[in-house]
Amino acid sequence: MATTQKTVGSGLAAPVRLWSGPEEPETESARHSLSAPRRCEELAPHYDLTLSHPAVDMDSFRAFDAWLAKAAAARGLTCCLFHDDNVEEATRRLRAGRLQCGFHLDYYALWHVPDDPYARLAQAVHDRGGRTINVPERSREFTNKAQAHVQLLEHGFGVPLSVRVPSGSMAEWVQTPSLSLRLDGSETLFIKPANGFGSRGIVCVEHCDRERLLAAWENARQFDAGDDYIVQRLVTWPRLSGDDGIERNAYWRVFYCLGELIPFWWAKQETGFAGPSYRRLTGAEIKRLRLQPLLAYAEDLAGLCGMNWFSTEICLSDGDEPSRYQAPGPDGRMRPLVAIDYVNDQCDVDVQSRCPGSPPDALIRHVAERFAEAALVRKNTLPFGAAVFPSHNRAA
Ligand SMILES: Nc1ncnc2c1ncn2[C@@H]1O[C@H](COP(=O)(O)OP(=O)(O)O)[C@@H](O)[C@H]1O
Ligand SMILES: [Mg+2]
Repeated sequence: MATTQKTVGSGLAAPVRLWSGPEEPETESARHSLSAPRRCEELAPHYDLTLSHPAVDMDSFRAFDAWLAKAAAARGLTCCLFHDDNVEEATRRLRAGRLQCGFHLDYYALWHVPDDPYARLAQAVHDRGGRTINVPERSREFTNKAQAHVQLLEHGFGVPLSVRVPSGSMAEWVQTPSLSLRLDGSETLFIKPANGFGSRGIVCVEHCDRERLLAAWENARQFDAGDDYIVQRLVTWPRLSGDDGIERNAYWRVFYCLGELIPFWWAKQETGFAGPSYRRLTGAEIKRLRLQPLLAYAEDLAGLCGMNWFSTEICLSDGDEPSRYQAPGPDGRMRPLVAIDYVNDQCDVDVQSRCPGSPPDALIRHVAERFAEAALVRKNTLPFGAAVFPSHNRAA
């Protein structure tokens, strides 16, 4: 694996590396598969590496699952996929001490839904001494946009001007809006469910006044009427030239995976946009465009949220949001780096060769190997039987 040591300061225990692995698509066909018992009797008493998503064979997980299975087999790890047919039983067995999971990758938990089966599963793994890729409590806090916003703001990370509107109270809020957001038709605002993802429930309101905001909110809340919402000011960003001479939005998605930063130029798949969403931001581009603070932002965010696997969307803002992290625009003027989407924990692991909006195949194969490696380390440092169960286990 090719890596370079990064020089920006870190609040993390170990130095963070910038991944500089291959860019070319992965062509090798994936033939390995994860064990995915459909009948609960087939569940083994322990697994070194587990993964959860609702169905066994899902297009968007096929390549990742196969690489994970291959990387696990190469390390002699036992694996299992938890899905809709076995998730409840697996959780029961974990709680009863009849199942142990060494290292678990959640892919479907809705952290804010009290009885969500995949959130309960991850919590049970964690409570019974297994390692979850992210501690459930951390995911719950930082994937909630309203809560993460407060944390980031307090710690000097650039964020769009935003206001949290508690569930159901938009009608009152528009009568006494925050002093900072104007509702006089002069601004474009976004409404976002605090626990939304994949653009679901997000409404962009141009020339936003009270009536337009309320109408848009009626629409937005169809997604999740019980959730809190944030109302956020539109941020705009300039374009910068890549080393290939192509101008792109100064908007990046940075992955953080177990101590590595993997930054990409990123553009949403929208009508009229035909290219791939991700293109690697190279070390040479970081140097020439003086984007080291972008990496520092993502690295410090990793330190703040304490998560091992997440992505963040960060842009170079044309606005004047306060931010500890600044970089020059095309005119040389320093601008704030601002996160648009703070922390995504269930990062897309579909592959670009199948879906242009997904990350490059090489990245997905790489992270699958890193997860298997982490599961092996976990297995070697804390073999089954030696797990220390915390005394504050939550009830199943
Ligand atoms: N304040 C904003 N200014 C400009 N664009 C935004 C803003 N908020 C969201 N967007 C656009 O909408 C997309 C979806 O919003 P995001 O916060 O990423 O939600 P999700 O969690 O659903 O991905 C972003 O990727 C970005 O393109
Ligand atoms: Mg997003």
